[in-house]
Amino acid sequence: MCGIFGCISKDVKVAPVIRAALKRLEYRGYDSVGVATLHEGGIHIKKDQGKIDEVHRLYNLDDLPGNVGIGHTRWATHGAPYQANAHPHIDCLGEIAVVHNGIIENFSELKAELESSGHKFRSKTDTEVIPHLIEDNLKKGLGLVEATLEALKRLRGSYAIAVISSREPDKIVCARMESPLVLGLGENAVYCASDIPAFLPLTNRAVVIENGELVILRADGYEIRSIEDWKQIIREPEIIEWTAEMAEKQGYPHFMLKEIHEQPRCLTNTLRLQDQYLDLMATFLDRAGEVFLVAAGTSYHACLAASYMFSELAYLATHPVIASEFIEQEGMAVNINSTILAVSQSGETADTLSAVDYARNRAATILGLTNVVGSTLTRISRVYIIQQSGPEIGVAATKTFTSQLSVLAQLALRVAKIRGKVGHKQIEEIEEKIRRIPEIVEETIRENEDRAKKIARKYKDKPVFFFLGRGISTATAMEGRLKLMEITYIPSIAYPAGESKHGPISLIEPGFPVVFVCPMDETRKMIIGNIMEMKARGAMILSVIEKGDEEIKKLSDDYFEVPGNLPKVLTPIAFVVPLQLMAYYIAVEKGLNPDKPRNLAKSVTVK
Ligand code: F6R
Repeated sequence: MCGIFGCISKDVKVAPVIRAALKRLEYRGYDSVGVATLHEGGIHIKKDQGKIDEVHRLYNLDDLPGNVGIGHTRWATHGAPYQANAHPHIDCLGEIAVVHNGIIENFSELKAELESSGHKFRSKTDTEVIPHLIEDNLKKGLGLVEATLEALKRLRGSYAIAVISSREPDKIVCARMESPLVLGLGENAVYCASDIPAFLPLTNRAVVIENGELVILRADGYEIRSIEDWKQIIREPEIIEWTAEMAEKQGYPHFMLKEIHEQPRCLTNTLRLQDQYLDLMATFLDRAGEVFLVAAGTSYHACLAASYMFSELAYLATHPVIASEFIEQEGMAVNINSTILAVSQSGETADTLSAVDYARNRAATILGLTNVVGSTLTRISRVYIIQQSGPEIGVAATKTFTSQLSVLAQLALRVAKIRGKVGHKQIEEIEEKIRRIPEIVEETIRENEDRAKKIARKYKDKPVFFFLGRGISTATAMEGRLKLMEITYIPSIAYPAGESKHGPISLIEPGFPVVFVCPMDETRKMIIGNIMEMKARGAMILSVIEKGDEEIKKLSDDYFEVPGNLPKVLTPIAFVVPLQLMAYYIAVEKGLNPDKPRNLAKSVTVK
């Protein structure tokens, strides 16, 4: 998730405007920053790694000349955040500059094709194919708009782009496919941006650009066209009433809620990962003597779920281990045949890194799954995968958890394919469901949000909660419990349901809330038994059920329903969502700020 911005003005020098706008977009990423402007027939660029203020201190971004320009603040997805990879990217002749937010899925093929016809690439980014494609089209005699249009038709994936060219300094061409793009209409200038806060202090007149649209911005207006059939689209601006702070959260009261709602989009991003890295990692996992899945907190819960996925699909035994326990628990068993798959959203969690360091010193193979390009985990992993969730600002992990699960399920499927343990039909069914998971999660949010509000009002004063699940749902129950506990401060416990009668059931007394995670898998009959045990002791049953599971519905005091009829290995991705919503709304009911729970930090860099 990067931030892009463009500004074309009748008479104002745009560089300071662009820098200020990028600063307001910094929450979308801050690995590197760059600005390009047009002046006297040439493109002027300043860019480097680092946050906007740091880069500005070194280069004075404001003194770039000209009334037309584009800028970018980067959340790295392809290529580490060093200077050459910072946007804007240019063509061979330095006549075209492009900023981009999104992922170009087929960039490897396009890059190979462009290189073989003589184009010279300066970066490792997927974005750089765009200016080179446009360059080719300009050479064929097309104007900038048509050249950009033709280039877009070759791209697969997601993008919001803004393009300028010294050949046509009277315009910015921008376009959208999935990644957000909004226009702002000021008195003397027109803006395009990833998000409204970028231009909100300058104007509150905005036009939201839809998927598949290209826009030609001129200093006195805009023209929207359909990329598919070039039909003109007339769309009047709307007046935005948000404050700057509200706009940064896209109108949501908290980042956590915004990030819960971002999950469908993040899950779509996980379906666009580069095959070669998934395959390579799957090969390492297949060949490992033994596999340890190492992580902390929410990421550990992803690992716990993954251990069920690898076993179920690939017949691969893996050991999920809490990072801070790894050395004590498994240390002496780690050797050259061991493979460590470390999972860390931030890639900087000290407990995880120290487990990894230890394992590296014992010659183990290190694989990494993280959300942050350039993080320490990426630097010390033999192979790493970036989960592409964009920055997560709420301290409680939500979107990064479900994305981790999606990546891990895809990895398990690939190992399954290598091993040939699971039939084609089952693999195809699961692949089909993975593709549908973004829409299933979207539906889950839509259908459960009001219910979560009601349940939050009803349960907010309960002094303690119990979360139970069986099989892979144990991981879901544990994550539901962590979400509730960390942002509402309600003490909670979670167990595999079968374990509850070995001790924890003694806690139960009338009115005690017990949350059951109950997908329709083979554990369901036994879960019903556990529900009965709890009911018999007066517990209040709050269940997360498969849509249409009337039997458990009747046994429950309250329930959330999850659509989609998911295969067991994918259930945590959707079943955790109502529990995220419930935790969020209970925190709000209690007057707490879910984005900033006390005593916690987003990235725990101390052991
Ligand atoms: C919980 C939460 C933490 C993190 C944990 C690991 O909502 O956010 O439990 O999951 O600190 O962080 P990463 O994944 O960055 O290693």
